[in-house]
Formats: sequence, structure tokens, C-alpha cells
Amino acid sequence: MSITATAENQPLQSLDEVEDFYKERYPEPMTPPQKKPTVGTDPDKKVEEFRNYEADARPTVREFYRLNHTHQTYDFALAKRKEYLGLDRRQMGIWEAAEYLNQLVDDSDPDTDLSQLQHLLQTAEHLRADGQPRWMVLTGFVHDLGKILCLWGEPQWAVVGDTFPTGCAYSPKIVFPKFFEANPDSRDPRFNTKNGVYEEGCGLDAVNLSWGHDEYIYNVCKDYLPIEGLYMLRYHSFYPWHREGEYGHLLNDQDRTHLKAVQAFNPYDLYTKSHAKPDAVALRPYYEDLIAEYFPAKVRW
Ligand SMILES: [Fe+2]
Ligand SMILES: [Fe+2]
Repeated sequence: MSITATAENQPLQSLDEVEDFYKERYPEPMTPPQKKPTVGTDPDKKVEEFRNYEADARPTVREFYRLNHTHQTYDFALAKRKEYLGLDRRQMGIWEAAEYLNQLVDDSDPDTDLSQLQHLLQTAEHLRADGQPRWMVLTGFVHDLGKILCLWGEPQWAVVGDTFPTGCAYSPKIVFPKFFEANPDSRDPRFNTKNGVYEEGCGLDAVNLSWGHDEYIYNVCKDYLPIEGLYMLRYHSFYPWHREGEYGHLLNDQDRTHLKAVQAFNPYDLYTKSHAKPDAVALRPYYEDLIAEYFPAKVRW
């Protein structure tokens, strides 16, 4: 299964376009993120507050989701796990990986957009400023390192965007659900029932989510961070679960317990982008120490 990045399957000018779209769908709550994460749909929300995000989405974002929903099949997600999760590409330290990712230059306006490294530092620095545990600050620093998949030829739709379970019926709350009509799995009787190939309550670990940067970085880090941090990494783009409350029938007790961790992390990812760029040179010693507390000098990618 080799689908590599080409001009026609790379609709986004910048990966930030997808993340900005998350923010339009899930606007920042008025309260500080660590006190009250806004979770799921607020039943008291007035009708006029619901916006039609799909109609308002940029054409590039729409095209991105069309490609994502068309091509992220059960078999594709399995094949990418096989291709990448042997972690036999290279050995890199965590800071080195952040610098490596930082070569990923989007075509967006350099005056307003942050580099990948700056997004990681802003997420981590907000966690630090809120007095969150050290492992969580570090989780913030590593959470998007899986986007290095873009540097290895993966198209945008196989790296970023909301993730969702493959191999069972799609939730109608996944953004742009209509685009699933073009996904061959939607016509495959093995995959289009509520549980599909899964057992009720099997747990998310057994679920083949659409492939992207979350699953990859989770696997890189899984021997080194506490379980709450691993949930944050593995499911931070699984908006249909952590923001929409879908797929309860696939969860086990461990998932229900750690959903809170994923939800606690999400505001730091979404709402900490500001124009003040963190000083990577000044911050590097702090992060190198923190990395050394949890990770070996070289990690397998
Ligand atoms: Fe991410
Ligand atoms: Fe992020």
C-alpha cells in the first residue's frame, strides 16, 4: 500500500489549516483550560450558537477531509501500522526529532504561523506555567512529533486530521460524514455494522483507528511515559471520542478512566497558539533535562 505525497493529494497550504478548523468547531471556553475543559455538546447551548462548520470550511480543508475519509480504510490503517510500527527507520533523540520535524516548512505566511517546534514549546510551556506534572509537560513537548511522517512522504490526509475507528460504522458526528460514501469500507458488510469487526467493550487498544501522527508517536513513546500521557498522545486527534462522546460501545474501563486525561490535554493543544514565539534556544536546556528524565539518549523511530 504505497500512497505517497503528491501535489494533488496535498490540498493544505499548511497543517495549521486543519488545526485552525478544530478551533472553529470547538471554540475556546471562557474559563482557563485546566479548570473546566469543555467536553462534548452542551445541552444548554442555544440553537443559534451551532454553526455550520462544514459550509464555512475553506475549500482546502474540505478537500483534505474528502481525501482523508475516502482513503482511510481498515486495510490502509493496518498496512501503515505494519509499515511504521516496527520502529526501524532510525534512532533519534527527542530534541533531535523536534529539530528534524521543524524542517517541515508549510507554505503559510511565516509572520503569523508558528513552526512545529514553536507549537510544541507553546503547548509544553502552558502546561508548565499551570503547574502540571513534569511528565505532562513532556507529553506536550512530544505530542506532535509523529508529524515527521510528512517528511517521510506520507500525504497530509495520512498524518493529520481527526482520527476515527475503521472497521465499523462511522459516527455521524465525525466531521464531513458525507465523504465516507466514497470509502470502499462503507459498502463492505464486515465493516458497516455498529461493532463491525470488534467486540462490544473491546477497548480502544484493540481498535484500528485511522492512521496518523497520534498512533505513531504513541508507539515511539510507549515504554517511557505514564499511561495518562500515552492516552494523551494516542488519542489527542480522536475528536469523535474526546469531544463528541461517540464510540462508547467500544470502550473498556481503562479507556473510560483515562478519557479525562485526554480531555485535560486538549485545551493546551488547541488554545495555546499565540503570536509570541517561544525562545527555543533559551528553553532548550530545560527540555533537554526533562527529556533525559524519561527517555534514553536515542529513541527508535
Ligand atoms: Fe496533533
Ligand atoms: Fe498539536
